[in-house]
Amino acid sequence: MKTIVNEEQGVPDVLQLQQVEQPAPKKTKAPAKASAAEWLVPTALIVLSFIPFVGGAVRVVGLASGAEITPENARFVAVPLPVIVHIICALLFCILGAFQFALGFRRRRPGWHRIAGRLLVPCGLATGLSGLWMTQFYPLYPHLQRELLYGFRMLFGSGMVVSIALGLAAILRRDIAQHRAWMIRGYAIGQGAVTYVKEGGF
Ligand code: HEM
Repeated sequence: MKTIVNEEQGVPDVLQLQQVEQPAPKKTKAPAKASAAEWLVPTALIVLSFIPFVGGAVRVVGLASGAEITPENARFVAVPLPVIVHIICALLFCILGAFQFALGFRRRRPGWHRIAGRLLVPCGLATGLSGLWMTQFYPLYPHLQRELLYGFRMLFGSGMVVSIALGLAAILRRDIAQHRAWMIRGYAIGQGAVTYVKEGGF
């Protein structure tokens, strides 16, 4: 073992010793590849949110600008608050939620996940609860297969609310694995709900 003596103080210089004995770190290209790949899933999720984003924006602008009342929009015009809350919260939930799947981004900004999570949980709960409220109280547009659509909305709306509530409960008791699993379930149900909502919504 080499001993390097600090000339000023006459004692072995441990820092220099470690530097001599450790091999120089090898250069690697892995981080660059990871940062390119980390955006694949969030980008796909944001693209998936694009159709409800456009539809929701059209609906909110229509309601805000006093659109003509038709059989298709009468229920929204009569009681607009639930659908407006639903659309705004659902879109925030989908877009912010997508960034939670960018692992490298989260590693570089450790505070982001917590701050976004504090917005995501209420938005997710408000989306599911307002969806359930509309399922129960808005009259269904006549041509739809009413019982089937009603059943699916009740099932998936409740599933989304319960999953997010369990995800919140898990993180409050510091159970990261359960928190992760339940939040992913809640997000997946919300994203999946968009498809059958569009079937009836537009
Ligand atoms: C995060 C995912 C969701 C997004 C992005 C979303 C988006 C939307 C949008 C944009 C509308 C307006 C439709 C229109 O203008 O005709 C809507 C309506 C509606 N959504 Fe959602 N939604 C989501 C989740 C859910 C869930 C989980 C339920 C379950 C109960 C639900 C139930 C409803 C209902 C009942 C309506 C009213 C449809 C009608 O009466 O025609 N949504 N949603």
